[in-house]
Amino acid sequence: MRHVTLVDIFKHHITRKYLNRSGVHHAVTAAYYAFDLAIENHVSVDLATKAALLHDIGHYEWYNSEGKWDYDEYRQNDIHAIKGAERAHKLLIRLGEDRIAAKQISVAILLHTDSYLPFTLQGKQTPLQEVITLADNKDEQPKGLHHYKKMDPSEAITQLHKLDLLVEASLNKDQEVIG
Ligand SMILES: [Fe+2]
Repeated sequence: MRHVTLVDIFKHHITRKYLNRSGVHHAVTAAYYAFDLAIENHVSVDLATKAALLHDIGHYEWYNSEGKWDYDEYRQNDIHAIKGAERAHKLLIRLGEDRIAAKQISVAILLHTDSYLPFTLQGKQTPLQEVITLADNKDEQPKGLHHYKKMDPSEAITQLHKLDLLVEASLNKDQEVIG
Protein backbone atom coordinates (compact mmCIF):
# COMPACT_ATOMS: atom_id res chain seq x y z
CA MET A 1 0.00 0.00 0.00
CA ARG A 2 1.42 3.36 -1.02
CA HIS A 3 1.45 6.24 1.47
CA VAL A 4 1.05 8.89 -1.22
CA THR A 5 -0.33 8.75 -4.79
CA LEU A 6 0.71 10.68 -7.90
CA VAL A 7 -2.63 12.51 -7.77
CA ASP A 8 -1.98 13.52 -4.12
CA ILE A 9 1.40 14.92 -5.19
CA PHE A 10 0.00 16.77 -8.21
CA LYS A 11 -2.88 18.33 -6.25
CA HIS A 12 -0.56 19.93 -3.69
CA HIS A 13 -0.22 23.69 -4.23
CA ILE A 14 3.61 23.53 -4.16
CA THR A 15 3.63 21.02 -7.03
CA ARG A 16 1.12 23.06 -9.00
CA LYS A 17 3.12 26.27 -8.54
CA TYR A 18 6.44 24.87 -9.70
CA LEU A 19 5.24 22.45 -12.36
CA ASN A 20 3.48 25.35 -14.03
CA ARG A 21 6.98 26.75 -14.70
CA SER A 22 8.66 23.60 -15.96
CA GLY A 23 5.62 22.15 -17.72
CA VAL A 24 2.85 19.83 -16.53
CA HIS A 25 2.84 18.03 -19.90
CA HIS A 26 6.54 17.17 -19.62
CA ALA A 27 6.15 15.99 -15.99
CA VAL A 28 3.20 13.68 -16.75
CA THR A 29 4.81 12.35 -19.94
CA ALA A 30 8.08 11.62 -18.11
CA ALA A 31 6.13 9.81 -15.36
CA TYR A 32 4.53 7.52 -17.98
CA TYR A 33 7.90 6.82 -19.62
CA ALA A 34 9.37 6.11 -16.18
CA PHE A 35 6.67 3.52 -15.48
CA ASP A 36 7.61 1.48 -18.59
CA LEU A 37 11.35 1.94 -18.03
CA ALA A 38 11.00 0.91 -14.35
CA ILE A 39 9.33 -2.36 -15.34
CA GLU A 40 11.99 -3.02 -18.01
CA ASN A 41 14.81 -2.33 -15.54
CA HIS A 42 13.29 -3.98 -12.44
CA VAL A 43 13.08 -0.71 -10.55
CA SER A 44 10.26 0.31 -8.17
CA VAL A 45 7.42 1.73 -10.30
CA ASP A 46 6.25 3.73 -7.29
CA LEU A 47 9.58 5.52 -6.80
CA ALA A 48 10.24 5.94 -10.53
CA THR A 49 6.87 7.52 -11.39
CA LYS A 50 7.04 9.92 -8.42
CA ALA A 51 10.64 10.96 -9.14
CA ALA A 52 9.83 11.48 -12.83
CA LEU A 53 6.72 13.54 -12.05
CA LEU A 54 8.78 15.79 -9.75
CA HIS A 55 12.16 15.73 -11.53
CA ASP A 56 11.91 19.31 -12.84
CA ILE A 57 10.17 20.87 -9.83
CA GLY A 58 13.35 22.86 -9.14
CA HIS A 59 13.22 24.92 -12.34
CA TYR A 60 12.92 28.63 -11.93
CA GLU A 61 12.56 31.61 -14.19
CA TRP A 62 15.81 33.05 -15.45
CA TYR A 63 16.17 36.40 -17.13
CA ASN A 64 19.30 38.08 -18.43
CA SER A 65 20.39 41.60 -17.48
CA GLU A 66 17.90 43.06 -19.96
CA GLY A 67 15.06 41.18 -18.34
CA LYS A 68 14.74 38.79 -21.28
CA TRP A 69 14.50 35.00 -21.13
CA ASP A 70 17.74 33.46 -22.32
CA TYR A 71 17.71 29.68 -22.61
CA ASP A 72 21.46 29.27 -23.16
CA GLU A 73 22.32 31.48 -20.19
CA TYR A 74 19.80 29.57 -18.11
CA ARG A 75 21.41 26.25 -19.05
CA GLN A 76 24.84 27.55 -18.06
CA ASN A 77 23.76 28.75 -14.63
CA ASP A 78 21.02 26.28 -13.84
CA ILE A 79 20.93 24.27 -10.59
CA HIS A 80 17.33 22.99 -10.90
CA ALA A 81 18.26 19.44 -9.87
CA ILE A 82 19.57 20.68 -6.51
CA LYS A 83 16.56 22.90 -5.86
CA GLY A 84 14.20 20.19 -7.09
CA ALA A 85 15.62 17.51 -4.81
CA GLU A 86 15.10 19.74 -1.78
CA ARG A 87 11.62 20.89 -2.80
CA ALA A 88 10.46 17.38 -3.61
CA HIS A 89 11.75 16.01 -0.30
CA LYS A 90 9.98 18.69 1.73
CA LEU A 91 6.76 18.17 -0.22
CA LEU A 92 6.81 14.37 0.07
CA ILE A 93 7.47 14.45 3.82
CA ARG A 94 4.61 16.95 4.28
CA LEU A 95 2.31 14.62 2.33
CA GLY A 96 3.23 11.73 4.63
CA GLU A 97 5.55 9.82 2.30
CA ASP A 98 7.70 7.07 3.80
CA ARG A 99 11.08 8.61 4.74
CA ILE A 100 13.17 6.02 2.90
CA ALA A 101 11.11 6.50 -0.26
CA ALA A 102 11.26 10.31 0.07
CA LYS A 103 15.07 10.17 0.23
CA GLN A 104 15.39 7.84 -2.76
CA ILE A 105 13.06 9.98 -4.86
CA SER A 106 14.87 13.15 -3.83
CA VAL A 107 18.33 11.74 -4.65
CA ALA A 108 17.04 10.47 -8.02
CA ILE A 109 15.95 14.04 -8.78
CA LEU A 110 19.32 15.42 -7.63
CA LEU A 111 21.15 13.03 -9.96
CA HIS A 112 18.80 12.94 -12.98
CA THR A 113 21.19 15.25 -14.80
CA ASP A 114 24.88 16.14 -14.52
CA SER A 115 24.50 19.44 -16.39
CA TYR A 116 25.43 21.40 -13.23
CA LEU A 117 28.27 19.12 -12.15
CA PRO A 118 31.99 19.33 -13.06
CA PHE A 119 31.98 15.59 -13.84
CA THR A 120 29.79 13.08 -15.64
CA LEU A 121 27.39 10.72 -13.86
CA GLN A 122 27.59 8.14 -16.61
CA GLY A 123 28.10 4.69 -15.13
CA LYS A 124 27.70 6.05 -11.59
CA GLN A 125 23.90 6.20 -11.33
CA THR A 126 21.70 3.64 -9.58
CA PRO A 127 19.10 1.92 -11.81
CA LEU A 128 16.38 4.24 -10.41
CA GLN A 129 18.43 7.37 -11.17
CA GLU A 130 19.17 6.06 -14.66
CA VAL A 131 15.46 5.45 -15.31
CA ILE A 132 14.65 9.09 -14.45
CA THR A 133 17.38 10.37 -16.79
CA LEU A 134 16.10 8.14 -19.62
CA ALA A 135 12.46 9.14 -19.04
CA ASP A 136 13.44 12.83 -19.08
CA ASN A 137 15.58 12.50 -22.22
CA LYS A 138 12.82 10.64 -24.05
CA ASP A 139 10.59 13.72 -23.91
CA GLU A 140 13.33 16.31 -24.44
CA GLN A 141 13.13 18.72 -27.37
CA PRO A 142 15.69 21.24 -28.68
CA LYS A 143 15.89 24.59 -26.86
CA GLY A 144 13.81 23.25 -23.98
CA LEU A 145 10.57 23.28 -25.99
CA HIS A 146 9.26 20.30 -24.01
CA HIS A 147 8.80 22.69 -21.06
CA TYR A 148 6.24 24.69 -23.04
CA LYS A 149 3.87 21.90 -24.11
CA LYS A 150 0.54 22.50 -22.40
CA MET A 151 -1.65 20.16 -20.40
CA ASP A 152 -4.77 21.16 -18.52
CA PRO A 153 -4.67 20.42 -14.75
CA SER A 154 -7.87 18.36 -15.04
CA GLU A 155 -6.35 16.31 -17.88
CA ALA A 156 -3.18 15.83 -15.78
CA ILE A 157 -5.27 14.51 -12.86
CA THR A 158 -7.10 12.08 -15.17
CA GLN A 159 -3.79 10.84 -16.62
CA LEU A 160 -2.12 10.55 -13.21
CA HIS A 161 -5.09 8.70 -11.75
CA LYS A 162 -4.75 6.14 -14.59
CA LEU A 163 -1.04 5.88 -13.89
CA ASP A 164 -1.72 5.43 -10.14
CA LEU A 165 -3.95 2.46 -11.03
CA LEU A 166 -1.19 0.97 -13.23
CA VAL A 167 1.34 1.41 -10.40
CA GLU A 168 -1.00 -0.22 -7.85
CA ALA A 169 -1.70 -3.12 -10.21
CA SER A 170 2.01 -3.63 -10.83
CA LEU A 171 2.80 -3.53 -7.10
CA ASN A 172 -0.01 -6.00 -6.35
CA LYS A 173 1.31 -8.32 -9.06
CA ASP A 174 4.80 -8.22 -7.52
CA GLN A 175 3.26 -8.92 -4.12
CA GLU A 176 1.50 -12.03 -5.50
CA VAL A 177 4.77 -13.31 -6.96
CA ILE A 178 6.49 -12.84 -3.58
CA GLY A 179 3.52 -14.38 -1.68
FE1 LIG B 1 12.99 17.32 -17.62
